[in-house]
Amino acid sequence: MTLQIRSLEEYQKEYQKSIENPANFWAEIAENFVWKKKWSKVLEYDWLQPETKWFLGAQLNITENCLDRHLDTKGDQTAIIWEPNSPSEEAKHISYKELHSQVCAFANVLKNNGVKKGDRVCIYMPMVAELAVAVLACARIGAVHSVVFAGFSSTALAARINDAACKVLLTADGGFRGDKITPLKDIADEALKTCPTIQKSIVYKRTNQEVTWNPSLDVWWHEELEKVDDNCPAEVMDSEDILFILYTSGSTGKPKGMVHTCGGYMVYTTYSFQNVFQYKEGDIYWCTADIGWITGHSYIVYGPLSSGATTVMFEGVPSYPDYGRFWEVCEKHKVNQFYTAPTAIRALAKHPTELVDKYNLSDLKVLGTVGEPINEEAWHWYDDHVGKNKCPIVDTWWQTETGGMMISSLAGITKDKPTFATLPLPGIQPVLLDNDGNEIQNTEAEGILAIKNPWPSLARTIYGDHQRYKNVYFSAYPNHYFPGDGALRDGQGNYRITGRVDDVVIVSGHNLGTAPIENAINEHEKVVESAVVGFPHDIKGNALYAYVITYDGVVPDDELAKEIRQVVSNTIGPIAKPDKIQFVSGLPKTRSGKIMRRILRKVAANETSNLGDVSTLLNPEVVQNIIDNKL
Ligand code: PRX
Repeated sequence: MTLQIRSLEEYQKEYQKSIENPANFWAEIAENFVWKKKWSKVLEYDWLQPETKWFLGAQLNITENCLDRHLDTKGDQTAIIWEPNSPSEEAKHISYKELHSQVCAFANVLKNNGVKKGDRVCIYMPMVAELAVAVLACARIGAVHSVVFAGFSSTALAARINDAACKVLLTADGGFRGDKITPLKDIADEALKTCPTIQKSIVYKRTNQEVTWNPSLDVWWHEELEKVDDNCPAEVMDSEDILFILYTSGSTGKPKGMVHTCGGYMVYTTYSFQNVFQYKEGDIYWCTADIGWITGHSYIVYGPLSSGATTVMFEGVPSYPDYGRFWEVCEKHKVNQFYTAPTAIRALAKHPTELVDKYNLSDLKVLGTVGEPINEEAWHWYDDHVGKNKCPIVDTWWQTETGGMMISSLAGITKDKPTFATLPLPGIQPVLLDNDGNEIQNTEAEGILAIKNPWPSLARTIYGDHQRYKNVYFSAYPNHYFPGDGALRDGQGNYRITGRVDDVVIVSGHNLGTAPIENAINEHEKVVESAVVGFPHDIKGNALYAYVITYDGVVPDDELAKEIRQVVSNTIGPIAKPDKIQFVSGLPKTRSGKIMRRILRKVAANETSNLGDVSTLLNPEVVQNIIDNKL
């Protein structure tokens, strides 16, 4: 493949080229795609605005790159291997030809249901192959998809639908995950009570459970498919037209709808996929993420398919029917590249290694991790037991906002190093800043991570709130993109991500803002105020610790804690439920009334011997009380 770097020397040469002249570098890469019209200018940006545009004036449709262009050469090759939740159900192998036909047919269903270019379509579905079809069908006709992870609650779903004023919802009767069934249609029905912009809900039948039917809104997916053919020309999209919106948690307030555009996103996800994983023709690649997250968008759907790869989609969970499932699937489908999250690795490492050893993993060539820092122990377990010390591990640092992998080794080309994401990809210029925003010049250093120059897959804005985009990402350090992470750099320039420097906590690889969780807790009628922080957890990486003040006269007990967890679950989703809830009489506050989370974090982490100066607090006496009653 022409996009692939093949040696360390080549990496160094390409990296240099990409920094000296980003426009030329990316123009050369972009030549490898199908464009309906070429760009007139490669890059235009002004990060003081902030504004970033790539491949200006170019026209394309990403699905022609993911589907049509492969039909002549690999129409019969498997595009998607779909592995169901239950091992007793048969896996599906969908060829490029079949996927093309399914996408075109469903694109026609969308059109029949009133969807036009630019309309927003919310997708709230389990990990069935039709989820990938739905995503691509939206892209085919230029509709903007907004996938909402099927573990979110009805309130969270409604908030996302309303924020983007979605016109159509795609959902399912239910979803299988391990031994549980999620009643997706019921949750969606609840959400739609407060979503006036939704005109149609197209329901895929997966679990066959009974659902309530609203004839003025609901139509069955399979019945709609009977009314269409599979002929659907690809809509002409401008390079900077919106491809999708994907929500991510902010450290304050409502979720941020990150906006990704067509041209740059396609180029960067494809380029990074091929280089990081060193995918070779005929390989079987498996990313265990859910398409509800950016990892699934970029590295289950778009990057792999645009590369003509075979990508595995898994409906289930690593623990079902037992903790050997991942390895059973690797053996069964002869997986070559395997990409998962540290939280899954830690959970699996707790179980007997026979669960790994009994499977033949000899086809594995590359292992990957994403979503949070990987600790040394988990890294070695992965290397020893899964990779048998022969597979490079790519620890890929990136974000919903960055669209694609930013810092990672290239498998077998650049060296990996336990717990380090290592080196930037070509085109990415990370720097470390001190607290005053000055660039730290020493190679060996620790500081705030920032990125200096634009890359093609950067999110262009927050849907409907460009000012917030500017405030969150471009204001702290002018002319730099600020990801919100801290990092350290070793003498060879390798980066290790040390964690968030804001009020976002990564729980089991999920990005959770503490503010929305506090807001949810405060909704409980017996709660006055609350503060939520993260604390180290040996499987989840971090878990949530909530400090809660109740009204006078309330006697807090386990029942109340249970109710509070339920409120959080209903408002955001089960993933946001605090592990620990401590009822307190007060929260440590500064004189300006700000909660001193630093102290609460230390108490939650059991680091009470080293709390720092608390004398400047408005109410220093509450600290001892919190420590004395710590859970
Ligand atoms: O803190 C970093 C952490 O996950 C955050 C981004 O979360 P999200 O937008 O949900 O995207 C996750 C999947 C790309 C980052 O700000 N993070 C992600 N990858 C790593 C990581 N932390 C350390 N090492 C990583 N490899």
